[in-house]
Amino acid sequence: MQSFVKICKISDLEENRGKKFQLDAETEIALFKIKGKIHAVDNICPHNHTPKMYNGFVKDNCVLCPIHFYEFNLSDGDSSTFEGGNLRIFETKIEDDDIYVKPKKTKTFNFDF
Ligand code: FES
Repeated sequence: MQSFVKICKISDLEENRGKKFQLDAETEIALFKIKGKIHAVDNICPHNHTPKMYNGFVKDNCVLCPIHFYEFNLSDGDSSTFEGGNLRIFETKIEDDDIYVKPKKTKTFNFDF
């Protein structure tokens, strides 16, 4: 069972701006603070596997990848614009001013062959 990892303080994040962090040896995540709520997603876009989600554009409850602008919901990773797979999201929790994120065991990619 994976346990939560302390990532940063809430005050380290700017509203509607992403920031990248190393979650574990193989996973880089992007954190977003939107209307005070914290979202943790894979920093790698499922479209072209580009590690730039932290630099994406926030629109409502979605992030637009800055490379080709596919849009992903920050709550469930679904995309209304990209059919090849979801953006991985991670469970978060807050204790005092600290943000914790729960790692996932393995990466899962959706490849169409
Ligand atoms: S790499 Fe993200 S939309 Fe293409």
